Amino acid sequence: MLSQYDTIYLGYQTWAMTLRQPMRAFLLEYSGEFSNKKIAPFLSEGGYGSSDSTELIREFIARDGGKNNTYTSALIVDGNRVDESDVEVKRWLKTI
Ligand SMILES: Cc1cc2nc3c(=O)[nH]c(=O)nc-3n(C[C@H](O)[C@H](O)[C@H](O)COP(=O)(O)O)c2cc1C
Repeated sequence: MLSQYDTIYLGYQTWAMTLRQPMRAFLLEYSGEFSNKKIAPFLSEGGYGSSDSTELIREFIARDGGKNNTYTSALIVDGNRVDESDVEVKRWLKTI
């Protein structure tokens, strides 16, 4: 299913200072298909930072056999100011 895509954007909210369960479930199901891809994580958080979520994404993918992936810097948006994040988002997209 994902083999046709070169870049995978992974978007999620921060929950409980870590990678939220729905994204864990998604990775458990699909990260075995993540090889030779560019992985671009973007997330919102409520003021306590992004914690370990981007490292966990790499760990999950590596554990499930994903190889030769590259990772962009993560876009971290303040969940209380999403409406004002257009410039940040556009700047980040240009780096992908
Ligand atoms: C169950 C739950 C747990 C959360 N835990 C955290 C947290 O640990 N750290 C943090 O910065 N924000 C936390 N938040 C806040 C969300 O990350 C924030 O509301 C969200 O990123 C805003 O995204 P939205 O605009 O899509 O709602 C939590 C929110 C929920 C509902």
